[in-house]
Amino acid sequence: MTDDAPTPQPHRRRPRYRGTHPRRFEEKYKELAPEAHPELIEHVRSRGMTPAGQHVPILVDEVLAALALAPGKRGVDCTLGYGGHARRVLERITPGGTLLGLDQDPLELPKTLERLRKLGFEESALSVRRTNFAGLPAALHEHGWQDGVDFLFADLGLSSMQIDDPARGFTFKFDGPLDMRMNPARGVSAAQWLAGASVAEIERALADNSDEPLARDLARVLAGRREPLATTQRLAEVVRQALPARYGDDERDATVRRVFQAIRIEVNDEFGVLDALLRFAPQALRRGGRIAVLSFHSGEDRRVKRAFARGLADGVWSATNDEVIRPSPAERRSNPRSGPAKLRWAARA
Ligand SMILES: C[S@@+](CC[C@H](N)C(=O)[O-])C[C@H]1O[C@@H](n2cnc3c(N)ncnc32)[C@H](O)[C@@H]1O
Repeated sequence: MTDDAPTPQPHRRRPRYRGTHPRRFEEKYKELAPEAHPELIEHVRSRGMTPAGQHVPILVDEVLAALALAPGKRGVDCTLGYGGHARRVLERITPGGTLLGLDQDPLELPKTLERLRKLGFEESALSVRRTNFAGLPAALHEHGWQDGVDFLFADLGLSSMQIDDPARGFTFKFDGPLDMRMNPARGVSAAQWLAGASVAEIERALADNSDEPLARDLARVLAGRREPLATTQRLAEVVRQALPARYGDDERDATVRRVFQAIRIEVNDEFGVLDALLRFAPQALRRGGRIAVLSFHSGEDRRVKRAFARGLADGVWSATNDEVIRPSPAERRSNPRSGPAKLRWAARA
C-alpha cells in the first residue's frame, strides 16, 4: 500500500456487556472477528442487518455488467471500502488484469488490504492507495497509467464500518465525537465546521446538501452557539428541540438524519470531489472504457445524471443507461442499506 503504513492493532480484552446481546459497536467482538464466527455473521445477515465492522456490497452483478469486465482489463475502484465490489471485480479481470483501489480512509484501508491479500490477490493484481479520488489524475500518473484505463468505479458516501463506528461521529444513534471526516487527518471536523460557520453557510449546506425544508430555522439554531456542539447526540438533541411541536418521532429522526448528511457532505466536500471525478473521467478512460457510479441521494445522482447526459450529447460518451438501475425488492429486503442506491454508467466514445 502506498502512503500511510498500516496502523498496528493493540491486544484488547474481550468486552463485557449487559443482557443477552451486545448493543454497543465495540461489544460486538464476535461480529468484528468474522472468520472465527461465520454462523453468527450468517444469522445477522439473515435478519437484514450488516455485521459490525463489515460492509455488504450493493448491486454487485449490475456493477460488474456495467463495467464490461473481462480477464486482462485494468481499472480503478475509487472507493475501495470493505473491498466487496473489488473482490468480485478482481475475480472477473484476473488472470492478467489489474485493479488500483483508492480510499481516503486511513483507518479502514489497511484492514481491507490485509483481507484482500489473504484472499490471494497479490500486488500484481491489486494495488492500493490512500487518497481522495479527486486525486485520480496523480494516482494514475504515479501508477504509470497515464495512457488510460478500461474501467472506473465509484460507490459514493460512507461504508457501513464508518457509519457504525461511534468514534467516527457519523451516526446519531450512538454518542461520539462530532467528527464525520472520512480522513480524520485532514480538514476540519464537523464540530469545528459548525463552530465557525455563519447562519448563511449552514443554511446553504442544509438546503443544497439535503434539501432540508427547515434550513433557515435550523441554521439559526446551530450557528454561533455559546456552547459548541461537540458530540453526535448533543447535535441530534439540539436539532430535535428546534423542531415544531407537530413533528412526530419519524419526522424528527428524518430531520436529524438530513442535518447529519448535510454536514458530512460539507466537511468532506463530497460534491466538489464528485464533480472533479466526473470531469476527469473521460480523460482517464480508453476508448470503449466504462465508468459506473453508485449514488445514494438526489444531490449525488443529479450530478452523475447531468454529467453523463452532457457527455453523451457532446460525443464524449457513446452510451449510458437510459433508466437508472435500482436494487431489486429482494436486495432491499436482505440489505436495507441498499434502499436509496442508484446506479448509472457511461461508455467512452
Ligand atoms: C460505500 S463505501 C464503498 C464500499 C465498497 N464498494 C465495498 O464493496 O466494500 C465508500 C468508501 O469510499 C470512501 N470514499 C468516499 N468518498 C471518497 C473520496 N472522495 N475519495 C476516496 N475515498 C472515498 C469511503 O471512505 C468509503 O470507504
